[in-house]
Amino acid sequence: MREFTYKSRDGEVRVLINVNHEECLRGLLSNYTGCAAFVSRSIPGAVKVGCPVMVIDDGESGKDINTVLNIIKWVHGLGLDRDGVFIGVGGGSVLDVVGFSASIYLRGVDYVNVPTTTLSMVDAALGGKTGVNALGIKNVIGVIRQPRAVIIDFSFLDTLPMQNYVDGFAEVIKYGVTMDEELLEYVIGNKDALLSRDGEALEWVVYRSLINKARVVERDELDRGGERVVLNYGHTVGHAIESATGFSISHGRAVAAGMICEARVGVRLGYTSPDVPKTLTHSLGSYGLITRIDIAGAIGSIINAVTRDKKRSGNYLKLPVVTDVGRWELVKVGIGEFTRLVIEECRSIP
Ligand code: GLY
Repeated sequence: MREFTYKSRDGEVRVLINVNHEECLRGLLSNYTGCAAFVSRSIPGAVKVGCPVMVIDDGESGKDINTVLNIIKWVHGLGLDRDGVFIGVGGGSVLDVVGFSASIYLRGVDYVNVPTTTLSMVDAALGGKTGVNALGIKNVIGVIRQPRAVIIDFSFLDTLPMQNYVDGFAEVIKYGVTMDEELLEYVIGNKDALLSRDGEALEWVVYRSLINKARVVERDELDRGGERVVLNYGHTVGHAIESATGFSISHGRAVAAGMICEARVGVRLGYTSPDVPKTLTHSLGSYGLITRIDIAGAIGSIINAVTRDKKRSGNYLKLPVVTDVGRWELVKVGIGEFTRLVIEECRSIP
């Protein structure tokens, strides 16, 4: 078991890794006047701690403003007051909708994240980014507001299909390649233990990933042009691939391709060591995260995504670029040049 805290505008956040989620929740609940649990439809019986339970649809269908209104109607009916707490149990989309609902109910109540997928354990559960789709626009409404605690119980991973289990390793490799060489070496060197879901190896990797993310979040919580941009490494191209393929490619695999592509572009721009794309291809490939993608079919979407990217400033993008394994810098690159290099360098991945 490992535990740490990070600081935020909303106070200190506790992060507990490799624990029994029900035991931890029972301990936390004594601080509140009431609770409501929101659980992914795939694991409806996942929380038996005496809180009323509402089941939430996974994926984009549940991550919607209508779900938020249903949640608010339900908790209001329960009589939950401002000293109550919401508990979100599920993958990233469930945590997003629950975190957002908690942030606006009665002008904000506490919430606790219990992520149940590798991807949500190493990314969405920590950092306070919440958001929902509305008016047919993805993630158009949201706030940054931290959970009170993040509780990580590896028993949820026991039944996760391998395809989903490995997805989170794209984000782990992202932390490694951008800011933690030792983490990347560990992930490469302990592949067999990690792929067989060894608890000790997982505990170290999740802890190290979350410590890296938490320190970045502490320094740039609101993602206002500071360090938090590094968490988006590989995501500019990755998001474009997801949208061009109608989300038929998983987030981890899209980010994996996005990182390899952005690393190649970094080499062409003269910032990135040629070893970086090779290391990424090797590490991501060994976790089965490299999928052959027709970038040509995604070009229109990439141009569209780049021009709408939040990292855009006029005709430029301010992109996190890995210089060498474990190091990165913010680089200003023309949108035209970036898209041209993506077309030239990323036609074929791997
Ligand atoms: N997932 C990126 C961030 O939390 O900033």
